[in-house]
Amino acid sequence: MPLLIRNGEIITADSRTRADIFCEGETITRIGADLEAPPGTQVVDAAGKYVFPGFIDPHVHITLPFMGTFAKDTYETGSKAALVGGTTTLIEMCCPSRADDALAGFDHWMAQASRKSACDFTFHMGATRFDSATKSELREIVRRGVSSFKIFLAYKGAFGIDDTELYGVLKLAKELGVIVTAHCENETLVVERQMELIAAGKTDPGWHHESRPPQVEAEGVHHLMTFAELTGASTYIVHLSCKEALREAIAARGRGVDVSIETLIQYLVLDKTWAERPGFEGAKFVMSPPLRDASNQAVLWGALRGGLIQTVATDHAPFDFAGQKRMGISDFTKIPNGIPSLEERVNLLYTHGVKAGRIDLHTLVNVASTQVAKIFDMYPRKGAIQPGADADLVVFDPDYQGVISAKTQHMNVDYSAFEGWKIEGRPSVVTVRGKIAARDGKFVGDPTRGLFVKRTPSRA
Ligand code: URP
Ligand code: ZN
Ligand code: ZN
Repeated sequence: MPLLIRNGEIITADSRTRADIFCEGETITRIGADLEAPPGTQVVDAAGKYVFPGFIDPHVHITLPFMGTFAKDTYETGSKAALVGGTTTLIEMCCPSRADDALAGFDHWMAQASRKSACDFTFHMGATRFDSATKSELREIVRRGVSSFKIFLAYKGAFGIDDTELYGVLKLAKELGVIVTAHCENETLVVERQMELIAAGKTDPGWHHESRPPQVEAEGVHHLMTFAELTGASTYIVHLSCKEALREAIAARGRGVDVSIETLIQYLVLDKTWAERPGFEGAKFVMSPPLRDASNQAVLWGALRGGLIQTVATDHAPFDFAGQKRMGISDFTKIPNGIPSLEERVNLLYTHGVKAGRIDLHTLVNVASTQVAKIFDMYPRKGAIQPGADADLVVFDPDYQGVISAKTQHMNVDYSAFEGWKIEGRPSVVTVRGKIAARDGKFVGDPTRGLFVKRTPSRA
């Protein structure tokens, strides 16, 4: 059935127009004033509403095996949460352990998502080990439609790779034209500082950020940038949290390093005092890199406005407070890291960004959709409103007022880091490839319609 979105104000990364959008099959076919609705067309009245391109979350963990447990979502729960919040495509990381083969890991992650996802999805392929077998398997995975790798400079003994492996991954990426996304923290410093703090009896969640201060992240960024400079590989820093790390990345850009930067909605709206809350409450706010001093927030918002930071993600990693987070009740280093936010990214960005006057609507679209599509080889199929693009659309009600609560969320986790927070505006209708998937906070679509988005490396 064709779909007509009528009378909305279409907001893209660089334009604002009042027009109708006609979609046939899975794509947008026409944009214009007063378009006809042929018989049988489903019509959505978007008067008084914005129409955005479907949002894309570039950094999500749905089924992450991590710190002795597993992230709580499945594609069934995670993709519905994404759609209710306006995210129509997500990028998860395939994260095999160092003992597993890359190809087996890729097949495993694909099996968890295929025919189980309501939204579209793709993967960053985790290079958690690098040897000659991995090298040829990574080539095969790229042939299957993945154009980004993921590496960790942290998490010693788990996903972290050493410098020889780092050099090898970047050289292969350069050869294949693949972009390398990286978690940047100096893992030796993290481990040493964790041991010192625990030995001193500093075991509460509030000490987590002391084990990974800004210098630890800045050193990780500097380290990656040095390797990127020498190999010529394209890089993308995930979850950048502070001014010290930003300074290193910008300095590298000035030397000609190809680097894009992602920050997270959590760093923009939460600071380290949340992880210092009394009792064990702070565990809800433990993630890595940690929440920072509030002074970083103005810097990050400014960097979004000025185009120094390209994207806003969630690094969604849901672990229950009642069970999983309590693994670290007497030792903060054992608290599974992550602050679930997949469902709330766009609403928080709109409320605390656009409504608060920190960013404009075009920047919202750019950092949460268009730039993601461009950097990760999906543009203009995704991230755009134009004929030929996938009909992934978010009709957004700017007048809605609501309150975030774990009681009403779709993410499969027992708490919300934003419990009781007010939001202004939310997606009213969300479409994926021409079909309505969510309406006014409820999932109403086909739970298995999501497709793997094949990507071809563009940096060769
Ligand atoms: O705390 C975080 N970031 N958890 C998820 C794993 C990662 O580092 O991306
Ligand atoms: Zn990370
Ligand atoms: Zn992550």
